[in-house]
Amino acid sequence: MSPIRRTVQNLDVNGIAQVAGLGLGDPDIIPLWFGESDLVTPKFISDAAKRALDDGKTFYSGQRGILPLRQALSDFHKRTVGADIAVERISIPGAATLAIVTALQCLVETGDNVVIVSPIWPSAFEAATVVGAEVRFARLAEDWSAGRWHLDLERLFAQCDARTKAIFVCSPGNPTGWVMTADEQRALLDFARRRDIAIIADEVYGTLVFDGSKHAPSFLQIAEENDNLFVINSFSKPWAMTGWRIGWLVHPRSLDSAMKVITIANNTGPTSFAQYGAIAALSPEGDAFRAEMLERCRRGRDVVQAFIDGQNRVRWMRPEGAFYGFLKIDGMTNSLAFSEELLLRARVGVAPGSAFAPGDPESDSYIRICFAQDQERLREGLVRIAKAVR
Ligand SMILES: Cc1ncc(COP(=O)(O)O)c(C=O)c1O
Repeated sequence: MSPIRRTVQNLDVNGIAQVAGLGLGDPDIIPLWFGESDLVTPKFISDAAKRALDDGKTFYSGQRGILPLRQALSDFHKRTVGADIAVERISIPGAATLAIVTALQCLVETGDNVVIVSPIWPSAFEAATVVGAEVRFARLAEDWSAGRWHLDLERLFAQCDARTKAIFVCSPGNPTGWVMTADEQRALLDFARRRDIAIIADEVYGTLVFDGSKHAPSFLQIAEENDNLFVINSFSKPWAMTGWRIGWLVHPRSLDSAMKVITIANNTGPTSFAQYGAIAALSPEGDAFRAEMLERCRRGRDVVQAFIDGQNRVRWMRPEGAFYGFLKIDGMTNSLAFSEELLLRARVGVAPGSAFAPGDPESDSYIRICFAQDQERLREGLVRIAKAVR
């Protein structure tokens, strides 16, 4: 019998990768499928990393990231959400994706379950599956009259049982752009405390919100330092650093020492010179770049809104944050086939809705596009989608 875990034998690539596999790198394709803007990392960030390389920062850098970066992250939380986060609670395992795996490793024994608010970026439930958890989804519901996604907390709570170790929630959400309110966060934290369930809060898009605030409501504003809370964050999106693979994890203070062992076991810490780029990203110049990125997203969102206004089969719940349009195409029932068709015939790359909540027929009438793009390219991509929809 094969020693390979059954779970691993059964893994299948998700729908985004399946569609991208048909056309990645083809210059004729307008790529709106992945979660990244078309901007390269700003020069002042790259220069800082280059200087670090020239200065010989090419050695192991310590298990949980260098102290100046962890300190700068603590300052970042202070100025964006007003929370005092001790450096003992901040670890930099590598990218946010690895931060999620790290949090799950702290929580899940085989047979436990993780309840995930969906539709959700597939790597979240793939990571839970890989560590051995049973994944349960609690789906946001469309509230078309309010024009917002709605979280039914009672339905979410009903998904939890004695083997539930974590509730994973991403706000602002990928792919929906939904933003969880502070009241909802308080109710969820209260439930999680009573039931000894951890919260994994993915706040990677926390600063990309369109209501003029500095940050979406954050669990860091309401939790105590030893609550079972894991907050995921990343340099990838607001600073255009997806290829750098650097993010961070805020965890309970009680894990200060265990985290040294776990981060060594996973990667012996993050890439040395990338951390100097990350420190530059947290400077006032980095704040200015984040503002530019937000503006780019706002304009992208307007372009998609104008497109939707001219369509009768396409609608959306206008995103409150992040940089995705999750577009519902009335009458479409197979988002993977539709996305493949779009790629092959219309030469535009989108992500199929089914990738964000497997087994959920509702999500199969959606596609996701990333609108943090050059406006002309985005418009052209939308024209191509419109033709295909017609
Ligand atoms: C919600 C969410 N969390 C985390 C990540 C991954 O971040 P990183 O590039 O740091 O692994 C993504 C990327 O798409 C994301 O959408």
